[in-house]
Amino acid sequence: MRKDETTRSCLAVILAAGESTRMKSSLSKVLHPIGNRAMIAHVVDALAGAGITDVALVLGRDAEKVEAAARNPQVRGETYIQNERLGTAHAVLAARAAIEKGYDDVLVVFGDTPLLTPAPLQAARAGLAAGSDVVVVGFSAADPFGYGRLIVENGELVAIREEKDASAEERTITYCNGGLMAIDGRKALALIDRIGNANVKGEYYLTDIVEVARASGGRTTAVEAPEEELTGCNTRAELAFIERLWQQRRRTEMMLSGVSMIAPETVFLSHDTRIDRDVTIEPNVVFGPGVTVESGAVIHAFSHLEGAHVGAGAAVGPFARLRPGANLGAEAKVGNFCEVKKAEIGAGAKVNHLTYIGDAFIGAGSNIGAGTITCNYDGINKHETRIGANTFIGSNSALVAPVTIGDGAYVASGSVITQDVPDDAVAFGRARQENKPERAKLIRERNAAIKAAKKKA
Ligand code: UD1
Ligand code: CA
Repeated sequence: MRKDETTRSCLAVILAAGESTRMKSSLSKVLHPIGNRAMIAHVVDALAGAGITDVALVLGRDAEKVEAAARNPQVRGETYIQNERLGTAHAVLAARAAIEKGYDDVLVVFGDTPLLTPAPLQAARAGLAAGSDVVVVGFSAADPFGYGRLIVENGELVAIREEKDASAEERTITYCNGGLMAIDGRKALALIDRIGNANVKGEYYLTDIVEVARASGGRTTAVEAPEEELTGCNTRAELAFIERLWQQRRRTEMMLSGVSMIAPETVFLSHDTRIDRDVTIEPNVVFGPGVTVESGAVIHAFSHLEGAHVGAGAAVGPFARLRPGANLGAEAKVGNFCEVKKAEIGAGAKVNHLTYIGDAFIGAGSNIGAGTITCNYDGINKHETRIGANTFIGSNSALVAPVTIGDGAYVASGSVITQDVPDDAVAFGRARQENKPERAKLIRERNAAIKAAKKKA
């Protein structure tokens, strides 16, 4: 029985040894983020999604960082260093030891195509299973400039011509090489070893594998994929373009899964943002990494969340900031101009206006008045504030940590709380008010007399 693409063994070689010159960056481009995650990690995800577990990373600069960013529990990755940058065929040969292990399929993928999904990978492998020696994934380019052109005759791919080597006639072709290729694993090394560098750039082009394979009677084909999936990133402008496409894709997935977005084009998501159904996201909300939102919650406009959990039916914002470790219970509220960091806000508790809650625990049903501040930092260490259930913290109170406020306790507004407050106690943490009768009148008369004297002088 012939093996199909689910039973054939597969090695994916990811090329990411480029200089990233056009990014004008001190970082390798594959480390630049899309959806708050390195580009290379998106590529590895697509491979994992296609069931590919063996990956050879071909790296140049920042190899250790790229290796770390590419780590994925579903994939066994090995790193190979390409010391000189002599072209894409030369880059694949850096992973010779991996290819020599013997695979049915070898996939070559570029590290800078973060919008890739499993589908084109599977289509390319299906082409090998159907008898091709080389399958190239192409796309119909809106603007083919700069891409290798696929020359197809009678349904067979006969050559790939790089922009710089193409004739004027070949340059009118819009069917382009997406950079993704599947090669018969038993023949891959022999074919690539025969590729030369007699071209305008003097590089070893992987694309020449098509003509090399055909010269020895091999079969080479192309399969088409959507341009978006193969969009590569060479410049910061392309990085922003890819980010936009990625955001659109994620927003659409979320809306289709039951999340409401009033102005989706203004909502920014991270790769790991998890939002349950029946959550409403108002305009201009940013989700940094590590946010989960449970069903029925509302994120009001202009809120910024990162490393936070929002419980069912809770409300955030407008203009709220949830920082790492913020954990809002069901039906809790964090309102305008509030910041919450590393703090649990109990079910139904309210932190409605102009408040900072950091390194704290707030029990269920408590009401935290406007302007309350947990003074969690003494300049050297961070300390905890523990607030019980059903407390009432008066406006503009400073809770100087470490401090504990018992269940059901009240804190008078304007208090500076430096000692623990027992359950059900009322704490007056401020100077008692003193009224001086008639004193204002005296001050006014004295001021008038001073002004009159000045005028005379
Ligand atoms: C390549 C293809 C072109 C295709 C286009 C799609 C070749 C010769 N050309 O052109 O047909 O239309 O991609 O985007 O393959 N790399 C290395 N080592 C090297 C050279 C490249 O690791 O020595 C890596 C780069 O980091 C990058 C990838 O290979 O991830 C592609 O290289 P790049 O220089 O961007 O190729 P293009 O000129 O865009
Ligand atoms: Ca490129």
